[in-house]
Amino acid sequence: MNGQYEIIDHEYDVVVVGAGGAGLRAGFGCAEKGLRTALISKVFPTRSHTVAAQGGISAALGNMGEDDWRFHMYDTIKGSDWLGDQDAIEYMCREAIPAIIELEHYGVPFSRTAEGKIYQRAFGGMTTHYGKGTAQRTCAAADRTGHAMLHTLYQQALKHQAEFFIEYFALDLIMSDDGTCLGVMAWNLDDGTIHRFRAHQTILATGGYGRAYFSCTSAHTCTGDGGGMVLRAGLPLQDMEFVQFHPTGIYGAGCLITEGVRGEGGYLTNAEGERFMERYAPSAKDLASRDVVSRSMTIEIREGRGVGEGKDHIHLNLMHLDPDIIHQRLPGIAESARIFAGVDVTKEPIPVLPTVHYNMGGIPTNFRTEVLAPTSGDPNRVVPGLMAIGEAACVSVHGANRLGSNSLLDLVVFGRAAAIRCAETVAPGAKHRPLTGDDGTRALERLDHYRYSKGSTRPAELRGEMQRTMQDHAAVFRTGETLQEGCDKISKTFDGKSDLGITDRSLIFNTDLVETLELDNLLGQAVATLYSGVDRLESRGAHAREDYAERDDENWLKHSVVWVDSHGKTTLGSRPVILHTLTDEVEPVPPKARVY
Ligand code: FUM
Repeated sequence: MNGQYEIIDHEYDVVVVGAGGAGLRAGFGCAEKGLRTALISKVFPTRSHTVAAQGGISAALGNMGEDDWRFHMYDTIKGSDWLGDQDAIEYMCREAIPAIIELEHYGVPFSRTAEGKIYQRAFGGMTTHYGKGTAQRTCAAADRTGHAMLHTLYQQALKHQAEFFIEYFALDLIMSDDGTCLGVMAWNLDDGTIHRFRAHQTILATGGYGRAYFSCTSAHTCTGDGGGMVLRAGLPLQDMEFVQFHPTGIYGAGCLITEGVRGEGGYLTNAEGERFMERYAPSAKDLASRDVVSRSMTIEIREGRGVGEGKDHIHLNLMHLDPDIIHQRLPGIAESARIFAGVDVTKEPIPVLPTVHYNMGGIPTNFRTEVLAPTSGDPNRVVPGLMAIGEAACVSVHGANRLGSNSLLDLVVFGRAAAIRCAETVAPGAKHRPLTGDDGTRALERLDHYRYSKGSTRPAELRGEMQRTMQDHAAVFRTGETLQEGCDKISKTFDGKSDLGITDRSLIFNTDLVETLELDNLLGQAVATLYSGVDRLESRGAHAREDYAERDDENWLKHSVVWVDSHGKTTLGSRPVILHTLTDEVEPVPPKARVY
């Protein structure tokens, strides 16, 4: 018993929190290596947000023309605006090729070329010969690649007998007094029971925090639960100012229209019918990297060349494409455009707008996926027992801007890397050390705090306030003034937590309580994003400051790290970017001007 709660104890070698692409890959990888592994997920695994990934997964297979993983590595470093860690980027791009073959063997139903090879399409920022040609590098299962992968990975997890705890909501990490992670506390939403999971390694695979914004392509479940737990454990997050806007969210609805549309030949136009990307990125045009395209669209709208009654969006054209190609390769977006925009894509353009899509920032890790908590003496200090992967993590392979289709790749490469590291560091069945420090009480006190909250502010009100602030103040373009105003507003919203009130005290499917705990997770990360943003006095990748329009390598070629305490007070610091490669097979890419 802990207060009023009877705790159900579990002991595992490894516990993975989150069962999307990254969590599943890590989970069955550990199970395959003989480690007793639990996967905890607040939703049924195949409802995880990976399911929504459309356009594909990158790997230099060279099925559709010449390619090389070194080209992929170069593109990823350039795409990251040199904020990505080059050792991790080398690892990811090199491992991409066997990772795809592995997925094929697991049964992912990739689209095929006439010769039966995996079909690959062009995606933004993906080139051959270090920027000279266009690479077709993104392996696709039509425009439902994430769906295909997620189901296949789930089947592998079942095959390897990873144990699932489905509709369990992770509350908080259990941290020892020497700073080791000893497991996680979770609440079973279905029957209201409370569970303590002991683990030698706890892997956070909880996804991004897109729902801190009003309009995003992320599922409602993307509430950064891992990042929230990390902040409450007194650990920092990294590069939180870098939030990706996908150029083509459906106007008004926010649903994703894959970059694969432009990879298949679609293009953007303004109110004058002009293919304006030719002006902003003369070489890559509509296939420039996402930060560049989103900024160009925003400028067009600001300068009065937006389409529609309010001149507030842009057109994505694919009417010129062969309807058979649309039917074969883009069936999902044709359906989304019809449902959410009322558009027949063979006859009319899709109304689109840059929409929040991905968090480059997250829980700092090394390429082995071990969580880092930098100190002044050791920027790469590892937190024992804690790992992070997928969008929750900041490895950092995406730096200041992620290239499309590198996310699904990140999930499987680093999911697998986590399993490899667990096999190296955990002996199957090893005895668990006694709990010293927290025994899960901290998580239960927080649960009680919100469960019995009696204030006058409804969680949805506070959430709305946070989402509007993020939408207005951490946007495609920022200035010191807008960011500072955002900081002031978000701090006020954070303080508003003290007046929250919910009426349902039950622990059985109490969605009000779940949403309150999620809001708490989101708020810490919203604070981290705005305060990190106002601090970084340069423009790099997705962080476009109008008052500091240039990249400043002399002062800012470094990762930001940020701690947010229980009062919402931030402490800012930094870690060096890793500018060396992992092996001497490839040279590092020194920073230079980034043009497309
Ligand atoms: O546009 C897309 O299909 C999204 C892909 C990604 O974010 O990697």
